[in-house]
Amino acid sequence: MSTSSLETFHDVSGGTDFRPALGQLLNEFRLGRIADRARLLEETAIQTHLGQHIQAWDAVFPEFPKYSEKRRTLLRLFKRERKDTYIRRLVVDALTGLDTENRVIVNPATVEGRQAMYLARALPDFEIIGTDIDGRWEALYRRVCRKSQTNFRFVQESIFEPDLGRRPTAIVFFGACGSVSDGAIDYGIDVEAPFLIFRTCCHENIGGNVETVREWSMINRYLAMKNWQFSRYKKRNNGFYFTDKYNRDAYPRSEAGRDLADSETFLQVARSAVNSDICISIIDLDRAIYLQEQGYDVLYRDEVFFAHMRGST
Ligand SMILES: C[S@@+](CC[C@H](N)C(=O)[O-])C[C@H]1O[C@@H](n2cnc3c(N)ncnc32)[C@H](O)[C@@H]1O
Repeated sequence: MSTSSLETFHDVSGGTDFRPALGQLLNEFRLGRIADRARLLEETAIQTHLGQHIQAWDAVFPEFPKYSEKRRTLLRLFKRERKDTYIRRLVVDALTGLDTENRVIVNPATVEGRQAMYLARALPDFEIIGTDIDGRWEALYRRVCRKSQTNFRFVQESIFEPDLGRRPTAIVFFGACGSVSDGAIDYGIDVEAPFLIFRTCCHENIGGNVETVREWSMINRYLAMKNWQFSRYKKRNNGFYFTDKYNRDAYPRSEAGRDLADSETFLQVARSAVNSDICISIIDLDRAIYLQEQGYDVLYRDEVFFAHMRGST
C-alpha cells in the first residue's frame, strides 16, 4: 500500500465515528425491526445507518463483492469465499512493497492453511504463519494436496493462549467463529501488530452462546445443526471456540459499547445474529470501536475489517 493510500485510509478512517450507527442499530433491535422474512427491513436499516461507513469504505478500497442473494440466506452464506478472495487482495495490496523490517504475517484459525498459502505465494518476501488449535486439517491438506510453501509454516496453538513472542506486521483471518475473532483481535493488539485485516463469522457464538432464535429458513436450520455441534465443543471445554476469558460479561468489548448496551442485550443480539445482519453489524461495530479505543484507525463493511495502528508506518 503506497504511503499516500495509507494516508488516505487514515484521513478517511481517522474521522470515522461508529457510535451513532451502533446506537441506531441497537434501537432497531430493541424495536424488533430485525430478521423480516423478505430481509427488506434489514437491507433498509443497513443502508440507512451504515450508509456513510459504506461510502467511507468505497472511498479507500476496491469495489466490494456484490451479492444478488438477499441478506442472511444460506446461498449468500455459502458464497462467503468471495469476501475471502477480496480480503486476500486487500492484504497483498497493503503489504506489497511495504518498507518494514518485520516481515511476518500471522493467520489465526487458518483451518487447512489454504488462504495462508495463497498469501505466501503472493508475498514471497514475507513469512506466513498459519495457526489453529486443530492441526489435522493442515496436515491432511499438505499430504493430500501436496501443497506447501517455503515461506509458510503451520503452528498448532490456541488463539486464547497465543505465542506473544512473535511480532507480526499483520494479523489476517478469513472467518474465525464467535470469540475466536475476539481472541485474534486481542492477539493483534497485544503484539502491537500494525495491520489487522480480517472477516468475522458465527457471531451467534460470542460470549459462550450456542442458542439461536428459531425461524423457518434454510440458514436457520443449517446453523441450528452447526450450533448443536458447537454445544458439544462447549461441553468438552477443551479450548475449541469457547473460553471463560470471552464469556458473556466480556461483551460489549468497547467502553462506548458498554454505554449503549449491557451483556444481556448482547447475548440476545447474538442469539438473533443467525437471522439478522443488523445483529451481526451490532457485534462488529462494537469490535470496530474497541479497536479504535486500542489505538487503531478502522474501516468496516459487512463483516470485513481493515485496521491500521495510528502513528505506525
Ligand atoms: C470453522 S473455521 C472458520 C471458517 C469460517 N467459518 C468461515 O466462515 O469460513 C474455524 C477454525 O477455528 C479453529 N479454532 C477453534 N477454536 C480455536 C482456538 N481456540 N484457537 C485457534 N483456532 C481455533 C478451528 O479449529 C477451525 O479450524
